[in-house]
Amino acid sequence: MSDGEDFNLGDLSDLPNGEMRACSAGDVEVLVCRVQGTLYAVEDLCSHADTTLSDGLLHGFNVTCALHGAQFDVRDGSHKGPPAYCGVKAFAITEGPDGVVVTIRSNKPAGPSDGPPSGYYQTR
Ligand code: FES
Repeated sequence: MSDGEDFNLGDLSDLPNGEMRACSAGDVEVLVCRVQGTLYAVEDLCSHADTTLSDGLLHGFNVTCALHGAQFDVRDGSHKGPPAYCGVKAFAITEGPDGVVVTIRSNKPAGPSDGPPSGYYQTR
C-alpha cells in the first residue's frame, strides 16, 4: 500500500547523469536529478527563502541554490550547507517501462525520528 499519492512524470530517459529537471506532481513542484544512473527527487523549493532549486547547480549528489548558495543532498533532501539551516523534502521515485513515478506524501510535520529513507525533513 502506497504511503502517498503517485504521479507519473512520463519518460525521463533523456535526462542525463549530472542533470536535473523541474516537474510538477499535482500541486508540488519536484526537482528530479539523475546521479550515477539513479533518479532522485526533492521538492523544488529552497528552505532558505522559497526559491526554486532547479535554477541552481548539481554537483555530485549536492544541489546548490542559485540565490544564496545553500546546499542540499538530493538523495534525502538533507541540508549540506548554509545559509539554509534545514533540509528540503525528498520523495520516493521509481523509473519503469511506463515512466517515472514519484510518490508525494502528505505534508505532515517532521518528527524527531523522521529522516532517511522516508525522506522528510523540517523545511520551514
Ligand atoms: S534562497 Fe536558497 S540559499 Fe537563499
